[in-house]
Amino acid sequence: SLIYVLNGPNLNLLGKRQPHIYGHDTLADVEADCRRLASELGHDIRFHQSNREYEIIDWIHEAREDAAAIVINPAAFTHTSVAILDALNTFEQPVIEVHISNVHKREAFRHHSFVSHRADGVIAGLGTEGYQLAIRRVASLITSAGK
Ligand code: DQA
Repeated sequence: SLIYVLNGPNLNLLGKRQPHIYGHDTLADVEADCRRLASELGHDIRFHQSNREYEIIDWIHEAREDAAAIVINPAAFTHTSVAILDALNTFEQPVIEVHISNVHKREAFRHHSFVSHRADGVIAGLGTEGYQLAIRRVASLITSAGK
């Protein structure tokens, strides 16, 4: 099955951006790890990053057509975007929200997530390994749904 992995603003700078918070892996490293694990588990990945809210919304709409699950790190849009929440609410398959950092240990404005109102699970603070764990989880949900 096809798993979408969607990434929000500034994650293109992963590895260079505040490495004490987000680590040294780049988004290309994360993508390669996601692809490797997904293919081991018999799935395909569509991996995207954008700094533009509408592009993320458009990919969620595209996922409605062909995705068995979405793994999403909405980055700062987590805390601001009712539009991304509304888009995810139109998607009927599993959604896992990932944050590299532990948002709950950080500023109060990062403690609320609009996306968590829809997500089936949330991973925070496990570094880029969180993406791998999210893929394992959606793979088992896809298997138990018989897809
Ligand atoms: C983030 C946490 C957000 O608060 C922040 O705006 C990000 C990245 C994370 O992966 O830890 O850009 O989603």
